[in-house]
Amino acid sequence: MKQVQDHYFKKAKKEGYVARSAFKLEEIDVKHKLIKQGDKIIDLGCYPGSWMQYISKKIGANGIVLGVDRTPLKIQLADNMRFVHGDINELDLSITASFAPSFDLVCSDMAPNTTGNKSVDAARSFQLCQMALLVAQDNLKKKGATLVKIFQGETFDQLLKQMRDEYDKVKIIKPKSSRNESREIFLLGLNLKNK
Ligand SMILES: C[S@@+](CC[C@H](N)C(=O)[O-])C[C@H]1O[C@@H](n2cnc3c(N)ncnc32)[C@H](O)[C@@H]1O
Repeated sequence: MKQVQDHYFKKAKKEGYVARSAFKLEEIDVKHKLIKQGDKIIDLGCYPGSWMQYISKKIGANGIVLGVDRTPLKIQLADNMRFVHGDINELDLSITASFAPSFDLVCSDMAPNTTGNKSVDAARSFQLCQMALLVAQDNLKKKGATLVKIFQGETFDQLLKQMRDEYDKVKIIKPKSSRNESREIFLLGLNLKNK
């Protein structure tokens, strides 16, 4: 496994990404054709910025990627990148509307600080996913999509059920580039209902 991680580390360096997380998003995007030219996308938990770098290239000059994180971004912002600094639990969430009237995709790679207690970590990760779903409800256009990362635990089934209620289709995804031992898994909701 270490060799696989070294492979992604080197690949990230070579391709100019600030983190290898970019390859998880790339893998999901290639398989599910999520990101298109001109898309408006919210990227929650965007620091250090590799998802934003990947998205920025794919959406081109007419798209916008709005990153949010409690840690200030250090990467150079391209013309189609915007950044809001803040904790998702404390931000005035209506701020997103000032960047675009509606969005095609909300993605969240947010991860809580881990305590080592699996139930506590999973519950915190679940809470961050709840915030991402809220942002998605408020900002997505009709048929928009949401991608969230969750730490597997007792709360996983609850999140899956909620997303099945809110989206026409929900996919469970474990990218190859995610460490095997990591408890993270992604849920992709396609076609937001009731818009
Ligand atoms: C795994 S990193 C994201 C990596 C990023 N996708 C990339 O490709 O560079 C998780 C991020 O979630 C952010 N985060 C965790 N809790 C948050 C919160 N309550 N509000 C905002 N950001 C949060 C952390 O600051 C951290 O930068």
